Amino acid sequence: MTNPTATVPADLQILFEPIEVGEVTLSNRIVMTGHGTGMAEHHLPSAQHAAYYRERARGGVGMIGMAFPQIHPSSQNVPGEVQAYDPAVVPGLRKIADAVHEYETKIVMQLGHTGRQSSSTWSERPLFAPSSIPCALNREMPKAMEIEDIDELVEAHAVSAVHAREGGFDGVEIHSGYGGYLLASFLSPFSNFREDEYGGSVANRVRFARRALEAVRDAVGRDYLVGMNMQGHDFSPGGLEVSDAKEIAALLTGTGLLDYVVVKGATYYSASQNVPDMQHPKGVWLDLAASLREVVDVPVIAVGRVTDPYAAAQVLRDGGADLIAMTRQHIADPETVTKIRENRLEDLRGCIACNQGCIDRLFKITHTTCVHNPAAGYELELGEGTLVQAPADGGRVVVVGGGPAGMKAAEVCARRGFDTVLLERRERLGGQLRLASSVAGREEIAEVIRHLEVQLEKLGVEVRTGADADHEAVRALAPDHVLVATGSAPGRRIVGNLSHGVEATGLDSERVLDTFEVLERGAAVGEEVLIVDDGEGGWKGIALALQLAEEGKRVHLSTPLPYVGAALGPFTQNKLVPRVAAAGIVRHPFSLLIAVEDEDVVLRTDGEPHRLAGIDTVILAGWHEPVTDLYFDLKPRHGSVRRIGDAVASRTMLESIHEAERVARSV
Ligand SMILES: Cc1cc2nc3c(=O)[nH]c(=O)nc-3n(C[C@H](O)[C@H](O)[C@H](O)COP(=O)(O)O)c2cc1C
Ligand code: SF4
Repeated sequence: MTNPTATVPADLQILFEPIEVGEVTLSNRIVMTGHGTGMAEHHLPSAQHAAYYRERARGGVGMIGMAFPQIHPSSQNVPGEVQAYDPAVVPGLRKIADAVHEYETKIVMQLGHTGRQSSSTWSERPLFAPSSIPCALNREMPKAMEIEDIDELVEAHAVSAVHAREGGFDGVEIHSGYGGYLLASFLSPFSNFREDEYGGSVANRVRFARRALEAVRDAVGRDYLVGMNMQGHDFSPGGLEVSDAKEIAALLTGTGLLDYVVVKGATYYSASQNVPDMQHPKGVWLDLAASLREVVDVPVIAVGRVTDPYAAAQVLRDGGADLIAMTRQHIADPETVTKIRENRLEDLRGCIACNQGCIDRLFKITHTTCVHNPAAGYELELGEGTLVQAPADGGRVVVVGGGPAGMKAAEVCARRGFDTVLLERRERLGGQLRLASSVAGREEIAEVIRHLEVQLEKLGVEVRTGADADHEAVRALAPDHVLVATGSAPGRRIVGNLSHGVEATGLDSERVLDTFEVLERGAAVGEEVLIVDDGEGGWKGIALALQLAEEGKRVHLSTPLPYVGAALGPFTQNKLVPRVAAAGIVRHPFSLLIAVEDEDVVLRTDGEPHRLAGIDTVILAGWHEPVTDLYFDLKPRHGSVRRIGDAVASRTMLESIHEAERVARSV
């Protein structure tokens, strides 16, 4: 029999050492921790759920945490999450467990309760908390729980745990011991101001979590896997620090009732860390896990911005943890473990910690996906086994434009077996993503380009860069199908202004630049700069503003929205907006640029003209206009021409890449 880890580089072998966790043996040390998926249908597990988890089990991950089943109606009761307290979930859970158990992977179900960090929008019930103090992010006044509420919630943990066991799951994970959620809010003096037996001393603050754990253990028995998410640090004023977290971890694991712990940090006060984006360092919570591991005698799962297998292996070798989570990495690439095992690291589709496709979408009350893995969350439509090969005489596809949409389309066409040619005007592939990744702090975006470049090469796509294609050049290639992905570009008007009925004047001034001129063509920027967001509210203007401020420029940032970055996810904003303030950037909310004059630059702020003197450079950093000339030239001349990505409408890489995948599948 061949050794399944024979191809694994020596430094990575440690990731493939089996480990006993409770009564369960995991075949490797890599975990995908629980993450809400929004995939339930009317609170019940769905076929999409099963497909999502099956694909990750097939990819070889050792253990999966399923989130975000709710243990009680008072928790975040969105229809896209499972109501674990309802016995009707059991058959659906069984389908998920069966799908995962087709492979060696184990699956645990989180027992979730969001506590005060929630919203009553769906439940129309009061939120639960130790004290009547609202969460800084969600700002809804909770009810200070009475003893009978606590008793009910203790029992609720047990009821849902039994459903997991009946559904064939390998275990349960008590979710809310971390992150400021229900049990964590009792554990921490940041949110617990009670004076009864559930507040004050550590023993009192631990009482609720301990009772919940005892109830779960009583309900499922000693032979069932029971873990807990734990806090390593609150990063919140007056909250838990590492020494407090160690004391609590020792008390809870000291009960002998837990089989493993997952260590994370933060509350919604420091919400950006809840799912740390690329503003946070890699390995953000690894030190916390290592600290708690000193005092607990059960396996510790470390997590937080780990995507590199060598970094993962190093954590285990250093004794920082027993298992290592690569959670969003598995959303981005369900085959992560297989690729490591087969020593195909260049094929890994790395998570870039943008949060746009995954956690941000949960805030929009839809399901998770990934910006550069369109199949994530759409496994039934786009997952393993759904790609239809081109007919034998499928012929040639010419893709024009080597940005994310064009690259993705070329990849998919080549996978389908088309003879594929990709033409790109610039000298390098990547389009606007390459510009975006050239801005300080946004470098990880380049991973999207790197991954696609490797795939195009492996698939034998003929890539011609520096190829400024017109319709004759395209026709000379005798394509059967043409996909136009010519992208978008900033124009000399402010698109966002037009939706407010305003057309700015003076934009032909030499003082006015756009992001392409600054980032690609290196145009000189003066000492005092106004960056204009026209309502897009995303990263473009902010990232550039931060970079220029870092370079010592005096930077203004205007937006018609109530604050800069208003279109970004709340976890991203939670760190980004204070960073903008700390960088000394002068913000002009509710403002539209209406004129660039010889001396002044004029904004319309709150409906009134607002003159800014001394601005050397104005940078337009808003919505783009699609580049469509080639498409409209080709359309009447060729039978099969389609456009994709920003060439249709200027959007983000998520829409471009997902659209490219779907269109390329339909050629
Ligand atoms: C879409 C999404 C939803 C999440 N929901 C949960 C959740 O319900 N429960 C939980 O414990 N953690 C949740 N998390 C946090 C992850 O378990 C993990 O801690 C986080 O993604 C950091 O790990 P990573 O850098 O390896 O992705 C969520 C993360 C994401 C991306
Ligand atoms: S959307 Fe972004 S953060 Fe989420 S998994 Fe994909 S790359 Fe990672």
